[in-house]
Amino acid sequence: MIVAFAGQKGGVGKSTTAVCLAVAALEAGSRVLLVDADPQGTVRTWGEVAAERKRPAPTVIAMGASMHKSGQLADLAAGFDMTFIDCPPRHGEVQRSALMVADVVVLPCGASAADAWALATSLEVVREARTMREELQACVLITRKQGRTALGKSARKMLESTGLPVLQTELGSRVAYQESLAAGQGITTFASRDPGAREILDLLDELGRLFHGQEASGRFVAQAAAR
Ligand SMILES: Nc1ncnc2c1ncn2[C@@H]1O[C@H](COP(=O)(O)OP(=O)(O)OP(=O)(O)O)[C@@H](O)[C@H]1O
Ligand SMILES: [Mg+2]
Repeated sequence: MIVAFAGQKGGVGKSTTAVCLAVAALEAGSRVLLVDADPQGTVRTWGEVAAERKRPAPTVIAMGASMHKSGQLADLAAGFDMTFIDCPPRHGEVQRSALMVADVVVLPCGASAADAWALATSLEVVREARTMREELQACVLITRKQGRTALGKSARKMLESTGLPVLQTELGSRVAYQESLAAGQGITTFASRDPGAREILDLLDELGRLFHGQEASGRFVAQAAAR
């Protein structure tokens, strides 16, 4: 399964979510490839910190606008159970390339009106990719959600009105996400009891169900509980 994190808006949690999912999947015994497709190099820098601190990390590689070409990412990803692509913000060649090779594209999105508006332009890019690849699945992920605000509650409705499915799992706005990356880890290894760790496991399971169907249900949550 190749999952790309994309979208027009910057700073919504693409890199943080990709790293946390990759670490959690690795912890569960999956072979994981993490592709840094952003010239900012957030994921590569994280990988260096993880290596310095001797933390378990997936294979990290940098790829650009030719990742969809034959002999590139699809061939490489075949040797892994899960591949996560961290795209740069804004649409361009790199995001387009990622959408040509991904099975699922996740559009992380904050819980505000501005985020919902920005999503409209991302929809266009997804539509364009789907004209060439009907099988591409696309979904919205609510991230950095502030618990009980009215805006948070209405966000789902607003985002659903774009026509894309909104994932059931929502990621809260939690310091542990920020701290875990700074420590060269993911939230499940850095703060396994933080509610955010459960969110990441739920998200892995939900993505698994999207791709493999119901039989994948609950594997990551159950495995983590047994550890
Ligand atoms: N769920 C979360 N809770 C709290 N802070 C978060 C969460 N997700 C991301 N952040 C913080 O928000 C900031 C932006 O996150 P991140 O770099 O993951 O976003 P991005 O979408 O990859 O940004 P860019 O578009 O610049 O690549 C970082 O400081 C990160 O620590
Ligand atoms: Mg990023």
